[in-house]
Amino acid sequence: MSTQLTENHRRLVVAPMMELTDRHYRFLARLLTRHTLLYTEMLTCKAVIHGDRSYLLGKETVEGPVVLQLGGSDVNEMAEAAHIGQEWGYDEINMNVGCPSDRVKAGRFGACLMAEPELVRDVIAGMQEKVDVPVTVKCRLGIDRDDSYEALESFAGIVLQSGCKHLIVHARKAWLDGLSPKENRTIPPLRYEYVYRLKQAYPDVHISINGGIDNLADTQSHLQQVDGVMIGRAAYYSPAMLAEADSTVFADIPGGHTHTADFATLSQVARDYAAYMQPWIDKGVRPSAMSRHIVSLFQEVPGARLYRRHISEHAGKCTDALSLVNGALEHINIDSSAANTSNTPMAANEVAQSDSPTSSSIDERRAN
Ligand SMILES: Cc1cc2nc3c(=O)[nH]c(=O)nc-3n(C[C@H](O)[C@H](O)[C@H](O)COP(=O)(O)O)c2cc1C
Repeated sequence: MSTQLTENHRRLVVAPMMELTDRHYRFLARLLTRHTLLYTEMLTCKAVIHGDRSYLLGKETVEGPVVLQLGGSDVNEMAEAAHIGQEWGYDEINMNVGCPSDRVKAGRFGACLMAEPELVRDVIAGMQEKVDVPVTVKCRLGIDRDDSYEALESFAGIVLQSGCKHLIVHARKAWLDGLSPKENRTIPPLRYEYVYRLKQAYPDVHISINGGIDNLADTQSHLQQVDGVMIGRAAYYSPAMLAEADSTVFADIPGGHTHTADFATLSQVARDYAAYMQPWIDKGVRPSAMSRHIVSLFQEVPGARLYRRHISEHAGKCTDALSLVNGALEHINIDSSAANTSNTPMAANEVAQSDSPTSSSIDERRAN
């Protein structure tokens, strides 16, 4: 099931999301799509160097390809953390130049580094010296009032002097003062045209677009303009959309899943995921830490609400993951041909409710 990372895998990518894209979610995503490139949550370089590596970096072999996202701005520490990431089997290292949280800003990393392109260039160059895998940058359009297209092109030009060949651009600027991370994912307007222009300015660089893309049809149309599409919230809150990625976005790559997002497929995915959960439960991991990722597998089909409620209410005392999942699936009362949930955009209120800012406890664990 494990695949080698190629340029083609960057056509569709699930975004790094703190508290969401952990190893359990990535396992689920891999059951749905073999080829979509997956990201870790962001880890600070200090956490990678000084923290519990097996907890932070451990991953399933079947997860690959996976990108490790790092936060930091110290050239030596970032290089060391990148090297450690490569040793742990990550297929690519990505530098976070897009996170707008105060905490991240205080640590001088994330989006505030858009004001220091030379430093980003030097950090990337330092990481590239230490690893053989690709080193990439995820950034915003700009920050605060420095948000013209020209500023973005200039930022990219300096960063690319490092030899970096891949940029992922969240097509909104970040307001560093006054907006929360969550607001910074909705309030600044999306400007896809800036990313398209960036691709025209740097035709030899692999440019991926991110922000507000929630289905495979729109993915295909962005791919007419840029090399890759990164999807965040939709891939988490409507994971079924990934079920048809291999047969659409990656149709030309052998070895992908040929299934569709119908009831038969999704219920089998849920059962396979239960089989994955069981050894973790036996080792003492909280079932809800894993079952939370399949809560949104079924949407807008009869019984989906009861399915969700069953998982949420019974996960706490669960000792048998398959019974939990089978019990939830019993609520979905539908003929399989009608259960296609792919390309179903999540309801706006679901995004608003679920897109919670990172908790301080997780931040602390990772920021070390
Ligand atoms: C809960 C949550 C956590 C996030 N954590 C990270 C992160 O660790 N690193 C990062 O670069 N972006 C992070 N993001 C931003 C996403 O990667 C992505 O850029 C953003 O959600 C816009 O894409 P979307 O509209 O497809 O969701 C996070 C987003 C959410 C919703």
